[in-house]
Amino acid sequence: MNWIELDKKHVWHPYNSMPSKSDLLQVKRTDKTSIFLENDDELIDGMSSWWSCIHGYNHPKLTQALKNQLDIMPHIMFGGIAHEKASLLCEKLAKISGLNSVFLCDSGSVSVEVALKTTIQYQEAKAKKKYKFIALKHAYHGDTLAAMSVCDPDNSMHSIYGSYLPSHIFTKAPELGFDSDCTNSIKELEETFKKHENEVAGFILEPIVQGAGGMRIYNPIFLKKARELCTKYDILLIADEIATGFGHTGKMFACEWADIKPDIMTVGKGLTGGYMTMAAMITSKNVSDTISNSKLGILMHGPTFMGNPLACSVALESLNLLDDNTWKKNVLKIEQIFTKELQSAKELTLVNSIRNIGAIGVIELNDESYAQEIQDYCVKNGVWIRPFGKLIYSIVAYTIKEEDLIKIIKTMIEAIKSIKTK
Ligand SMILES: Cc1ncc(COP(=O)(O)O)c(C=O)c1O
Repeated sequence: MNWIELDKKHVWHPYNSMPSKSDLLQVKRTDKTSIFLENDDELIDGMSSWWSCIHGYNHPKLTQALKNQLDIMPHIMFGGIAHEKASLLCEKLAKISGLNSVFLCDSGSVSVEVALKTTIQYQEAKAKKKYKFIALKHAYHGDTLAAMSVCDPDNSMHSIYGSYLPSHIFTKAPELGFDSDCTNSIKELEETFKKHENEVAGFILEPIVQGAGGMRIYNPIFLKKARELCTKYDILLIADEIATGFGHTGKMFACEWADIKPDIMTVGKGLTGGYMTMAAMITSKNVSDTISNSKLGILMHGPTFMGNPLACSVALESLNLLDDNTWKKNVLKIEQIFTKELQSAKELTLVNSIRNIGAIGVIELNDESYAQEIQDYCVKNGVWIRPFGKLIYSIVAYTIKEEDLIKIIKTMIEAIKSIKTK
């Protein structure tokens, strides 16, 4: 039996039925920013594997870091044990985030779970019975149940899980646009804080770009206000930098656009350059000290693969690659190309709006029924993107060649045109 038949029989794919409702690409290998199929067709990658492969695929330095670690120690439990690569990685994460205490975990969603638990434990340690979170409409923080409970209730289909999900407080998302006036959303935010200050433990948001809940870029002023309000009411600010972190918006972390520090930050995706599954929750010293000096005195979480040395070593190397700031120049160039090349999409009747920042470019359509058609057109024309609903977007590796990025954007636009002309 050929392996794709085995896939159909046994493999459950993300957001899918068994077997998959649509045809799956049969991928053989990757190289730099290209994906090669079983039939040797090459696709230029406009997704960087769900925004994680920030340096492109098969990067020689990342591969070597992993090979070196493989011979030394592929895995060791983290309970009661320390190892060099984890120490070096956490020191580096603390330095670049401006925070202090790093909890390593398996995936973005798990880091959000840990952030929520940490927030509750912090409030408990201060003898406050506060168990609710404020979150934003259009938010996306992951697919596990607690992470899902702070995602936009409509986008993430809370209704499927009925009363199982805890109910939190949702406030107006900041107005769309980096320079947009966000007076209304800030007003609602202030009212929400005032009304719920006695029950709310934390406020979770994706800084500057709300990702999977709408690819919405917003004004840093909103973020500044969020910081002010959290400090005023002793509500912890959780910045979910899983999508935005490690340079995607042109800054190392999107919080830097507003020159603020959260109390807790979650990172994942680009952390290992897309090589291994790993994420982290990083807190201020105040948060870790408050919990550690409390009656309970410990943070109650500990995944089996926490601090996996292979993941730590490749993450460390990936962060080293970001040290020399070449990525900043590359991301700026990518941003300029998106800004220029997306313009012609504006004219199309099917297009509602375009927007971009850093390595992220988005075309929002008026209609959500064309995602699959557009994806198929792009694949036929040598480009891999995976639109969702009305959003046709690309987030690329920082190492992408100029001509390849232009091809991605032009193909996205041609795909939309091909629908219009039917
Ligand atoms: C902002 C944000 N938070 C959390 C997650 C969940 O991360 P993971 O898919 O690694 O669980 C994602 C994934 O897209 C994300 O974009």
